[in-house]
Amino acid sequence: MKNLYVGTSWKMNKTVAETREYMKKMKEFMQNNGEAIKDLDVFILPTFLAIDAALQITRNANSGLKIGAQDCCWEDFGPFTGEVSPMHLKDLGVSYVEVGHAERREIFKETDEMVSKKVAAIVKNKMKPILCIGEEEKPSQIDIALNFLKNQLLDDLSRIESADLKNIIIAYEPVWAIGATASAPLDYIKEAIDFLRALLNKEFGGRHGDDQVIIYGGSVTPESAKDILALPDNDGIFVGRSALNIDYFIKMIIMASEVQKVK
Ligand code: PGA
Repeated sequence: MKNLYVGTSWKMNKTVAETREYMKKMKEFMQNNGEAIKDLDVFILPTFLAIDAALQITRNANSGLKIGAQDCCWEDFGPFTGEVSPMHLKDLGVSYVEVGHAERREIFKETDEMVSKKVAAIVKNKMKPILCIGEEEKPSQIDIALNFLKNQLLDDLSRIESADLKNIIIAYEPVWAIGATASAPLDYIKEAIDFLRALLNKEFGGRHGDDQVIIYGGSVTPESAKDILALPDNDGIFVGRSALNIDYFIKMIIMASEVQKVK
C-alpha cells in the first residue's frame, strides 16, 4: 500500500509569526493523531523566509510533518543574485522542493529546460522534488491535453535516471483548475493520471509508472477532497488556498486517513 499525500504550498502568504502559530497547531494535531495519520505523508511549503521557523517547531517533535520549499536554483552556489541554493535548503533540513509550478512558468517565464535542471539539482541534493505539470487550457478533446502533458513531463524528467523516480512526486495540476471555482472533473483527473502512469511505464520500463507517486492539485477544497483522494490511481492532494485555513487543512488530512483505510 502506498502512502497517501496531503500537502500544501502557501505561495506568497503568511509571515513568520503566522507560520509559527499554524505550525504549533499542526504539530499538536499530528502528535495527537499518530495512529490515524501513520500511512499519510503530510507536507507544508511555507515561504523561504518562514521555512526555518517551521523547521524549528517540527524538528525533533516526532510529528511526521515534512517541510519544504516552493522553488530553488539549479546550481548549488555562485553568481545567481537573489536565488536560493538547493544545497542550502538541504543544509537547513528541508525535505521537499516544489518545482515548475504554473505560476513560476507563466509569471517568471520558467522553461522546461530550467525545470529539468532544478529537478536534477534537488535529487542530487537528496531532497524530493514535487514536480508540477499541467496543461494551460481545458481542451475540447482530452487527447490534446495528454499530448501536451507527455512532452512537458518527459522534458522535465530528461535529466534524471529511472532509479530516481521513486524520489519524485509528480503533481498533476491543470492550470485552468488552479485558483478556480472548482477542481477538474473526477473522470478527467483519472484519465490524465492513468495516462501519465502508462507513459512512465513505457518510457522508463517495468512498473515505474504504476509505482510513481502522482498527486492532484487545483482548487481542492474540503468539499472536493474526499472524492479526489478516493480516485484509485491518485496518491494524494496538493492544496493551495483552502489549506491557508488550518481547520480546513486538518479536515482534509482526516479525510485522507479515512480514505486510506479503504483504499
Ligand atoms: P489552489 O492552488 O488550491 O488555490 O487552486 C493550487 C496550486 O496552485 O497548487
